[in-house]
Amino acid sequence: MKPDALEYNSNGSNQPGRPDVQGFEVGAISGRANEPIRSKNALERLELAVERAREEVAPLRISGCVAEVAPTFARVRGLSRFVRLGECVEFATGERRQLAEVVRIDAEAVTVKTFETGVPMRLGDRVHRVGPLRLAPHPSWKGRVLNALGVPIDAAGPLRKGENAYPIEAAPPPAMRRARVNAPLKTGVRAIDLFTPLCAGQRIGIFAGSGVGKSTLLAMLAASRDFDAVVIALVGERGREVREFLDDALAANRSLSVAVAATGDESPTMRRLAPKTAMTIAEYFRDRGESVLLVVDSITRFAHAAREIALAAGEPAVARGYAPSVFGDLPKLLERAGPGEEGKGSITGVFSVLVDGDDHNEPVADAIRGTLDGHIVLDRAISDQGRFPAIDVLASISRLAQWVWSGEQQKLVRQLRGLIARYEDTRDLRLIGGYKEGGDPELDQAVALVPKIYEALQQSPRSGLSKDAFRELAEILQGKESPRGKEVSVVK
Ligand SMILES: Nc1ncnc2c1ncn2[C@@H]1O[C@H](COP(=O)(O)OP(=O)(O)OP(=O)(O)O)[C@@H](O)[C@H]1O
Ligand SMILES: [Mg+2]
Repeated sequence: MKPDALEYNSNGSNQPGRPDVQGFEVGAISGRANEPIRSKNALERLELAVERAREEVAPLRISGCVAEVAPTFARVRGLSRFVRLGECVEFATGERRQLAEVVRIDAEAVTVKTFETGVPMRLGDRVHRVGPLRLAPHPSWKGRVLNALGVPIDAAGPLRKGENAYPIEAAPPPAMRRARVNAPLKTGVRAIDLFTPLCAGQRIGIFAGSGVGKSTLLAMLAASRDFDAVVIALVGERGREVREFLDDALAANRSLSVAVAATGDESPTMRRLAPKTAMTIAEYFRDRGESVLLVVDSITRFAHAAREIALAAGEPAVARGYAPSVFGDLPKLLERAGPGEEGKGSITGVFSVLVDGDDHNEPVADAIRGTLDGHIVLDRAISDQGRFPAIDVLASISRLAQWVWSGEQQKLVRQLRGLIARYEDTRDLRLIGGYKEGGDPELDQAVALVPKIYEALQQSPRSGLSKDAFRELAEILQGKESPRGKEVSVVK
């Protein structure tokens, strides 16, 4: 017997209806039901009446048919006047039903891209309008792994459907009704808690080239104990990494986490949808008053997927092959993270940004940096020295750090950064033997302390999270004699 609340079954198919839209309240958003009828011409009034009837009478479906099939898209005739950009349609091909997204509309036909790859379409196949996608999360989703369409992929049975359906494309809460962001968080990652501390509801990017340690750092943050819920979007990752991330890194917080995975071999529509699905789930938990951590690895792959879709829809490429809409999609998604309305919870967003060819000024990295409340930069030169997490503390900033540090801590961090800057500036000089102790007391202090600071910052998922970063750093430094016999004065 199947309980009513269970909407669907993952592989398929003993539930009649919509095997490919699990978790989604398809077509449930009216959007037009409240439009006033006045001041419309006869044709518009008829269109609106049909729209309303369609919403009220489920069996009435608007459909068109496939007029062109290409490897990465299809064109459908008969729907142009009835669909909007971003809405979904459903293909009835053979026994399976397939969802596709509307990416372009013109007078003759609409261009759609399917969520699954290799859908066997034929000219003349019927295509039904489905409408905007909605998701109805439930508290029991914690501990589960879903694909971008909300279908469970963890073989732990069907998902329960929540009471309220949330639109996948939502607007952020109105700016003036949003709570302030000033409640300090402890992530347990020493380098972050010391140098770029975060607040609940902050949005931060982790910027690095490939293989420098982004995913490992995100996994350490996802294991942090300061959150009620953790929502993770793994976008464009290798299948192996998804399993590793969930089994190893997340183990401690697995029961608090919902993971949404779209691997690199999935369609661009799935890869672009995954962070939005994760964001929608995060919004649900936020509205329940929970402090939510949203982790997206990586937001760059979301931008790549958006680029593929935009180019297939015929948009021009403007910056490094990215179409203009990509630079609109990014802030639209990132703005949804952050504090909720007063009295509700918050979404702390951590987004990894793959900087192509280690170029930190490439357009996507630039657009993301401008939208976020801080950035943590990982440096290949540091990871090459075997220092992990490879955070370049001088290049990283948290725009909300002043809410977290006490006056004394702020002063201390300023001193530490000064020492690190001095140490790094003189690296080449020291390598060629141009440094002699005693000539510059500040440099002497930097040379004595910075290697110890670096040692204190080293951390891996296995070494566990820190409880109090300032105390632990002080324990390593305080009261000890420097190698040159001077009293360590900077950390008291
Ligand atoms: N904190 C750490 N402690 C020890 N080793 C680490 C740490 N972080 C990263 N590494 C090493 O760096 C390698 C790459 O890390 P990771 O997969 O996190 O990088 P990435 O930036 O996510 O890579 P990609 O761009 O391929 O996704 C790991 O396999 C591991 O060997
Ligand atoms: Mg990675």
